[in-house]
Amino acid sequence: MTALLSISHLNKSYALGAEKLQVLFDINLEVQKGQFVSILGPSGSGKSTLMNIIGCMDTADEGEYYLDNLAIHDIADDNLAQVRNQFIGFIFQRYHLISKYNVLLNTILPLLIRGIPKNEAIARAKEKLELLGIGKRLTHKPNELSGGQQQRVSIARALVCNPAVLLADEPTGALDSKTGDDVLALFEELNTMGHTIIMITHDQKVGHHAERVYHIVDGRLYDEQTMTTESSH
Ligand SMILES: Nc1ncnc2c1ncn2[C@@H]1O[C@H](COP(=O)(O)OP(=O)(O)OP(=O)(O)O)[C@@H](O)[C@H]1O
Ligand SMILES: [Mg+2]
Repeated sequence: MTALLSISHLNKSYALGAEKLQVLFDINLEVQKGQFVSILGPSGSGKSTLMNIIGCMDTADEGEYYLDNLAIHDIADDNLAQVRNQFIGFIFQRYHLISKYNVLLNTILPLLIRGIPKNEAIARAKEKLELLGIGKRLTHKPNELSGGQQQRVSIARALVCNPAVLLADEPTGALDSKTGDDVLALFEELNTMGHTIIMITHDQKVGHHAERVYHIVDGRLYDEQTMTTESSH
């Protein structure tokens, strides 16, 4: 079986004036379709850098990255946005909802951007919002919702485009522990429904809700099961 996502021997540096600061070292990662994976690491370990590359928001210096058999490492920067829109559903710590728009409009926006007719976009958004338990809050603005509800809207917004991968960066970071647990239970439910999830977090307890846990330490990724830097499946 080929993996949905496959990264091998990936290196990434940032230019700091004339110097180069390497932040990711020989990263190897395979994620199968339908897996729930977490990447756990302390501040500064390279989580966001890796997430930006997985999410096609940034590119690596070296290495290979295949997503759904597409050679992402060969795609020109100008075309990455299209790949990102097609394959990735982002969930952020602070939700990134548009404050002047209500729940429904926030959720249909990615569909409208893709040219989906409004009626169809609304039907698809309502289905996801109902699935996430916020179908009765369609006309609320983000500031009229609790943090947990806002995160549910952001998950609905990520789901409406049927992404191949849900990519979540500290999705419970802004929530109290009870609400955070609810969101994690939701991830587990979405995973049971077949969604592939990659969750990035510094929180051991949160990370261990995933079925497969990786640790990132000083820019190197370790598989918790084997404690090697080779992804083994
Ligand atoms: N644009 C940049 N230019 C130079 N160095 C950077 C840049 N972005 C990140 N870094 C450096 O890369 C390293 C990894 O940063 P990254 O943001 O990936 O960490 P992180 O694990 O997401 O941390 P946090 O948990 O605090 O968000 C850090 O040492 C950081 O200083
Ligand atoms: Mg970060």
